[in-house]
Amino acid sequence: MDLYAVFGNPISQSKSPFIHTLFARQTQQQLSYTAIEPAEDGFADALAKFWQEGGKGCNVTAPFKEQAFQAAQQHTERALLAGAVNTLKLTDDGIILGDNTDGAGLVADLIANFGELKDLRVLLLGAGGAARGVVRPLLDEQISELVIVNRTVAKAEALAERFSEFGKVSSSSFEDLSGQFDIIINSTSAGLKGQLPPLKAELIQATTRCYDMTYSADVTAFNAWAVEQGAAKVVDGLGMLVGQAAESFTVWRGIRPGFRQVLRELRRNLSR
Ligand code: ATR
Repeated sequence: MDLYAVFGNPISQSKSPFIHTLFARQTQQQLSYTAIEPAEDGFADALAKFWQEGGKGCNVTAPFKEQAFQAAQQHTERALLAGAVNTLKLTDDGIILGDNTDGAGLVADLIANFGELKDLRVLLLGAGGAARGVVRPLLDEQISELVIVNRTVAKAEALAERFSEFGKVSSSSFEDLSGQFDIIINSTSAGLKGQLPPLKAELIQATTRCYDMTYSADVTAFNAWAVEQGAAKVVDGLGMLVGQAAESFTVWRGIRPGFRQVLRELRRNLSR
């Protein structure tokens, strides 16, 4: 049976084994998918062991995405631009290919919830690793403009600069930010620390849709705040998680699983 796994530390909370097992069943693929938790300094060894044991591909999550990038012998364009790898694949030629499916997962879920993104004005909160992986896929949807806002403005500027050849993208501080946005995406880790990004309430208008890249059984802190300010719709990142998994599965198996049903089951399990 073909072997797949997810590497991360911690990993016990990972939904990936559940998701990929359902994908395999749905598409009638014979594979096993497990979770591996290397020590913080043990990723390279654990990965080498995985390939020796016949591993065909894996997902990689925090804190190993940059190390996975280093471990890859070849990279897709989207992995090069993201500077991080969440998907490794052993190709038929025996080469370790590094890919990044996070942005594709986000875009798929945005479209599923909000419709086509073409000509929309999008605000991205945060300029860390999570933001970097999604900028190019968003610009590829021909949005009218992407504004990146970050507490540390220099990081937003650097990100906007890096992607300026792919579309209209600019940066701002939270204080200077104004105007109207169709979609606001929260990629900051503020919520994980029980905080909110310092976004002015007036930026949430009656037509604004908000997407929080994190998820929780209850509504996330950012989405709860956005609803209080009158947002038209809020969605959390569970669908992005399933979307990136579907994209990884497609990279490995050449067959695209449907993700609506898996997302429903996952949501049901979360709220138990
Ligand atoms: P990730 O890989 O998850 O994006 P990261 O690279 O550490 O993690 O980036 C975290 C992002 O959340 C950054 O944009 C960070 O802002 P800074 O670059 O200014 O540090 C943002 N962030 C974290 N806590 C925040 C808070 N309380 N308010 C606003 N932004 C916050």
